Amino acid sequence: MNGVSDAHQNQETLKPEPRLTLAQRSNLWPLTAWGYSAWRAHSLTLLTGQPFSLEREAALFLALCRPRPGETWLDAGTSTGFYAGVLARAGCQVLAADLSPSMLAQARRRETHPDITWLLTNLEASGLPQACCDGVTVGATLNETRRPDRLLAELARLIQPGGQLWLMYVARTGGLLQRLLASPALGGLTFPDPAWVAWQLPGWTRTDGLQLGPVVFERFLKAPC
Ligand SMILES: C[S@@+](CC[C@H](N)C(=O)[O-])C[C@H]1O[C@@H](n2cnc3c(N)ncnc32)[C@H](O)[C@@H]1O
Repeated sequence: MNGVSDAHQNQETLKPEPRLTLAQRSNLWPLTAWGYSAWRAHSLTLLTGQPFSLEREAALFLALCRPRPGETWLDAGTSTGFYAGVLARAGCQVLAADLSPSMLAQARRRETHPDITWLLTNLEASGLPQACCDGVTVGATLNETRRPDRLLAELARLIQPGGQLWLMYVARTGGLLQRLLASPALGGLTFPDPAWVAWQLPGWTRTDGLQLGPVVFERFLKAPC
């Protein structure tokens, strides 16, 4: 993995940050990790209200981002490794990071591609080297942090000039359910507005965007040097 220290690999412990949201903490539970893939297979169909399989999501990502063999990608908040697997099968070197040891344990069981390196870290302060990857995928991880601004800034730092950022997230609707899930006791989820997301990425170009119901898919390109 280009520019990524071995010291980051195979870490077995991670001190949970005191400010993790309930949603983030729930990902530390083995039961959540065990059931996650089943939820993920149907999540976009339920959220968008139309048939939306993982195959369709992978095809959309591949068509818009066109990851090339030999590129280095970070899958930010990989959970059980969906985007990591898609990228590895496209020939990329993948760093698949998550703050949940339980998720990473499940991911290792499901995805055994040799070009995936699993990394236990909080990506809001990972210490990974600047410009260490060609692209980053962020599948719904923005929704779980109380500081999406900090997560986006940190991920943007890791991408080299000319590199790309792929986001999939549930955008703000202002509905009652979202307001309930945003309360700390019921999840502490964040539902960003697409305009706010673009505002967090100064100097980046939003090349593609698709919104289906509340679910947003976006590709941003970092300015070349
Ligand atoms: C909604 S799941 C998305 C999983 C995956 N990206 C996908 O598309 O299937 C979010 C994952 O991000 C992880 N996560 C949340 N905040 C994180 C952070 N600050 N650093 C690293 N991982 C984080 C959680 O542990 C969880 O596994």
